[in-house]
Amino acid sequence: MKTMKKILFVNACVRPQSRTNVLAKYLLDKLDGQTEELDLGKEDIEPLNLERLEKRDLYISNKDFSDDMFRYAKQFVGADIVVIAAPYWDLSFPAVVKSYIEAVSVQGLTFHYTEEGIPEGLGNVKKVIYVTTAGGPIGEFNLGFDYVKAVCSGLYGIGDIVCHKAEMLDIVGADVEGILKNTMQEIDQVYGV
Ligand SMILES: Cc1cc2nc3c(=O)[nH]c(=O)nc-3n(C[C@H](O)[C@H](O)[C@H](O)COP(=O)(O)O)c2cc1C
Repeated sequence: MKTMKKILFVNACVRPQSRTNVLAKYLLDKLDGQTEELDLGKEDIEPLNLERLEKRDLYISNKDFSDDMFRYAKQFVGADIVVIAAPYWDLSFPAVVKSYIEAVSVQGLTFHYTEEGIPEGLGNVKKVIYVTTAGGPIGEFNLGFDYVKAVCSGLYGIGDIVCHKAEMLDIVGADVEGILKNTMQEIDQVYGV
């Protein structure tokens, strides 16, 4: 029996009228599977401070992942496809994405180190699709996506990581609808009309 693919939609779009969210929803409609949305705006993920780090390290060394702090890592490794939608902020993404990655990067759940000290992925995730929009040009270094790609590939061992983006949306006189439509057409070419 064919099981339904699990799609995790990590939504880091802050504004209610977010163009990034429009593109992500357009793409999600084309994917085959069951989507679970994680709206980072509603999660209030705290970055690690000394207290939380020490607590976490103790759990990790005991291989006890029952605490609620591990829910994001467990949810992540259980997905087949992860779609991350994040606007281009300050040359990367909203800070909550970094807090989320910190919560997901758990040794023993998302990755472990081999005897040679090389990180190796442990999860199910086969593909990560990153969606972003920018007010100006993103340029050669797409620092938001490049960072997510480095973590997902280097730490979590995911092989297929792609980005769909729309740029120059806030330039005076920009044809916002036209730019978004172009990105939608690119999405159509990859995932079908
Ligand atoms: C806090 C903040 C930081 C931003 N930083 C950049 C930036 O570094 N480069 C850029 O091109 N646009 C920047 N922008 C513009 C956004 O990338 C652009 O408006 C984007 O389309 C917003 O996505 P959204 O419509 O999904 O909210 C920034 C916007 C905000 C609110």
